[in-house]
Amino acid sequence: MPSSDNPLYWFVIPAAGIGTRMNAGKPKQYLILGSRTILEHTLSRILSLPNLAGVVVALSPEDTHWKSLTIFNNPLIHVATGGASRAESVLNSLDYLSGRASSKDWVLVHDAARPCVTLASIKKLCEELTDSQIGGILSVPVSDTIKRVADLNEIQATVDRSPLWQAQTPQMFRYQLLRDCLTSALTNNQNITDESSALELCGYKPLVIEGRSDNIKVTRPDDLVLAEFILQQQEKEL
Ligand code: C5P
Repeated sequence: MPSSDNPLYWFVIPAAGIGTRMNAGKPKQYLILGSRTILEHTLSRILSLPNLAGVVVALSPEDTHWKSLTIFNNPLIHVATGGASRAESVLNSLDYLSGRASSKDWVLVHDAARPCVTLASIKKLCEELTDSQIGGILSVPVSDTIKRVADLNEIQATVDRSPLWQAQTPQMFRYQLLRDCLTSALTNNQNITDESSALELCGYKPLVIEGRSDNIKVTRPDDLVLAEFILQQQEKEL
């Protein structure tokens, strides 16, 4: 068991979704961007991090694509069984880490469908949260004007956007705290769409760490073209 004085850094990649909004005939993490799948792009960025203890990828029990990826037998990659929701997939991955991770280790949960996250943003997240006992998330301030809309698409109000941030991933928390808060949220049937919500519901105050707006989540067909363009632009930055 690793020492709690020197926390390890683990990644969890929930990749058990079927991506219904893509209409693509296969889960979106297996769509091709340039020369390889979205999931391979995401994993290869993460695997280039120094001091990585391991990556747990949560896969659907019906997944038929994973073993065709050349990355699948990388020794740092472990596979857990995904659940019915993203939160269950993450919790199954944390259960898998039981006995491998210590309670103060860091877990960075990152969407399989965010292949454009930069190493610099991940390092910034890790550095800025080093002294936190809770954790935080990559995020960007909302830049568009936000409308509250009622029935018949009628605008009710313009919302003050100054305190609003858009949550991204990775979302980074201490192992045991994240496991306890996710367990509590699922036991109480609370609808959560990210890990931070689980901590917030338990009364914790995770931090936002400013990331980049090009850390997009591939959700709809248009996003594929945009993600490919972003990856090409980022190649030039390196
Ligand atoms: O559907 P959405 O884009 O919100 O999914 C976010 C991430 O959660 C994706 O990487 C998806 O594969 C994953 N997921 C999962 N298990 C589920 C549903 C979604 O791992 N049951």
